[in-house]
Formats: sequence, C-alpha cells, structure tokens
Amino acid sequence: MDRIAIEGGARLEGEIQISGAKNSALKLMAASLLTDECLRLTNMPRLADTRFLGRLLQRLGVSVIEGDGEDGAQTEFCAKDISSAFAPYDLVRQMRASFNVLGPLIARTGHAKVSLPGGCTIGARPVDLHLRSLEALGARIDLHEGYVYATAPRGLKGAEIEFPMVSVGATEHALLAAVLAEGQTVLRNSAKEPEIGDLALCLSAMGAKIEGIDTDTLTITGVSKLNGATWSVIPDRIETGTYAVAAAMAGGEVRLTKTRADFVQALLDKLEEAGATATATNDGVEIKRNGARLNAVDVTTEVFPGFATDLQAQFMALMTTAKGESVIRETIFENRFMHVPELMRLGADISVQGGEARVKGVEKLYGAQVMATDLRASVSLVIAGLVAEGETVVNRVYHLDRGFERLEEKLGACGAKVRRISGPPEDGEG
Ligand code: UD1
Repeated sequence: MDRIAIEGGARLEGEIQISGAKNSALKLMAASLLTDECLRLTNMPRLADTRFLGRLLQRLGVSVIEGDGEDGAQTEFCAKDISSAFAPYDLVRQMRASFNVLGPLIARTGHAKVSLPGGCTIGARPVDLHLRSLEALGARIDLHEGYVYATAPRGLKGAEIEFPMVSVGATEHALLAAVLAEGQTVLRNSAKEPEIGDLALCLSAMGAKIEGIDTDTLTITGVSKLNGATWSVIPDRIETGTYAVAAAMAGGEVRLTKTRADFVQALLDKLEEAGATATATNDGVEIKRNGARLNAVDVTTEVFPGFATDLQAQFMALMTTAKGESVIRETIFENRFMHVPELMRLGADISVQGGEARVKGVEKLYGAQVMATDLRASVSLVIAGLVAEGETVVNRVYHLDRGFERLEEKLGACGAKVRRISGPPEDGEG
C-alpha cells in the first residue's frame, strides 16, 4: 500500500493547475445514464473515485472512452442501451456517490436495484432524503438485505419537495430524477453548492428545463427525452482551497490556475484574517505568506457559500502552528475530527468536545508516522507535514488518491519535498 513521505521546511513557490471537480464529475457521470446519446465530459479529473464510478457505469452497459482534448482529459459516456439496472454492493460500497445512479436508472428504465452506500467514515451519512424525494416523484422503494429495490412502471411524476435539511447529494439526486419526470417538480431548500449549478447547467445543455439554478428553489419541467452534450467540469474548489492552505502553511507564493477564487471566498477571507494574502486573478488566485507566524482564527463549517466542511481538516492543520487559540466548529457532519489524533502525533495541541475543536497553536510540529482516515483528513496530514521538522509519513494514501490528482507532483513542482513510497503495508497497517 502506498505511503507519502514529506520532509518539512520547504517554502512553496510556483504554479499549480487545478483539476476538474471530483464532486461535480461524479454527478455528471451519473447524468450520462439519462440519455441514449453520448455525454462527453472535458476537464475530467483522473481519480480513483471517477474510475470506480466508470466501472459501475460500464457494468450497467455504458460505454466509457477516455481520451485527451484541448480542455485536458476527457471521457465520453454513451448509455445507448442500459443492459442492467443493478448496482452491486462491491461497487457502491467503495464510494457513496455511486448511489446517485439510482434516480437516473429509475427515470430511464423504470426500475433499479442499488446497494445502500458505504463511503467515507465521517458519521452515519444516511440516504433517507434521497429515498424520500424519489418516493415523492412516484417511485416505489423497498429496502431489503442492504439493497434499494425501486420501481416506477408508469414513469416518474413531478412533485413539490421541500428538503427538511440542506443536502448536496439529495438535491442532486432529486434533480437527476426530476428532469425526465412528467410535469413540474419544485425542489425547495435545495443545496446551492457550485457542483449543483454545474449539474443543472449540463442537464440544461442536454435539453432539460430547469429554473432557479444557483438558488435554493429549483423548478424543473420534465421532458420526455434528453440529448447528448459536451460539458466542461468546473474547477475543484476543494483542491483549490487545499493548495491555498498548503501555501499559507509552508509560506511562499503560489499561483493556483484554471480555477475560481469566488468558489473558495469564505476560506480566502479566513486566510487573510490569519495574515496570509489572497489575490484573485483572472484564472484563479494567488496566495502569499512571507515571514510572520499566522494568527489563530475561528471557523465554523456551513453550506455554500459558507466555509466548506471539506476544507475543515486542512484549516485545522494550518491552525496547529498559528499564534493563539482557534475554535473550529463542524456543523455539517458528526464525527469529522478523525484527523485530530493524527495531527496530535505531530505535536499539535487540540481538544475536542462534541462538534467543536480547540486548537492551541504550537511553535513547532515534528514529523512522525501518521495514518490517513478519510479523504480530506489525509490531505490535512500532508499539509502539517510541510512544516513539521523531519519526515512525516502518511500511511493509507489510497484515501488521498480518491480525490487528489497527482498531489505529490503538483506540490513537488512548487518545491515541496514530497515523495510517494510504493510498497507493502507498514506493520499493523491493514
Ligand atoms: C457532498 C460531498 C462531500 C461534502 C458534502 C457537504 C460529494 C460526492 N460529496 O456529500 O464531499 O462534504 O456534500 O458539502 O459530492 N444527510 C441526511 N440524509 C440524507 C442525506 C444527507 O441526514 O439523505 C445529512 C448528512 O448525514 C450530513 C448532511 O445531511 O450530515 C449533509 O450531507 P450532504 O450535503 O448530503 O453531503 P453528501 O452529498 O453526502
């Protein structure tokens, strides 16, 4: 199992090109099931998660052809005939977003059998809101032995759905199903994350009728058929934010290109408050930190455009060496502090009570062996390793590979001393 070793102390200077958004690509890929024509996605990230979902789509009968184009990597998905509406446990458990094939399968074929998801170990992460919205659209749902059996023999029908809480996945799922439902669907209290806007605009390019994009009320007028399209995946705001934090942590000057500063404004505001400089450019953002130690600042995770939960672990790593005490509140997921004991192995001073972590900044971190526990937590350990004295070795980096494309190459090009060690697991790692 691969590990990543970081030798702390190098400043970062240079440019990092941001990849297409994983969380957008996964939902756009699911959208390919909605049409018998081809959906070509450009600016596609090449990640373990997109490969997993590609494999699942192939099992359902979708042809998946990877290539390269002007806009970076691209993949064409053609679901001319859906040969199976069965998504087995072994493919869905590896990644929660695979569950999003359920709605498109019902919409297109009238039935589906999809395993309940696994995914990151960040709390219970139920799918009740997904299932309730599919039921509201007229699907009959039965749960049996870990599987969702869904049928809609007479097709889906438009409905008014008010989500009791904001959910990115449930909003996307309802949208994916509603575009082919008969009549009008209104989704209230929808999530407004940029990836939902990307999905809605791509579906519109495929012929869907959607109003209220980027607001919390989406109105969808169902159509009987969607066509193919070519669509460029939006930049990954979490990758953008992660490298912005890395630059602020290590010090130096890093230009993040092919991305958008407005996607991570809440983070950039916090970086500025802490003492770094963030300047929006025409194709991204430039981060600078020279000299002085950063100041501790408090952060509370919120739905977009608030501070993203997917950047919480990285920001906590940054605060471990800041001047003063920072309070970090996690409001989106329970149990999303699994990086805390690992950061403490590097010398961080953190105490957790419920959904709140208190980080007392220390002068120095010290390299150690640490273990990645989930996708975003693992990259926070790499960020801490950038300043820890000596060598930090992050084990179980398959979590990182799920969501960060060529991380060691991108950081290495800016001067970080990061290398991948391929090989058998460490003692006790399994
Ligand atoms: C997506 C992102 C993830 C990000 C999260 C919040 C993908 C593949 N993943 O996850 O990286 O951290 O948004 O921005 O896009 N909930 C329920 N019932 C449901 C669905 C959700 O109770 O049916 C709860 C969750 O447990 C969580 C909260 O709602 O506490 C928000 O989750 P949600 O927005 O749905 O996140 P995901 O779509 O899973």
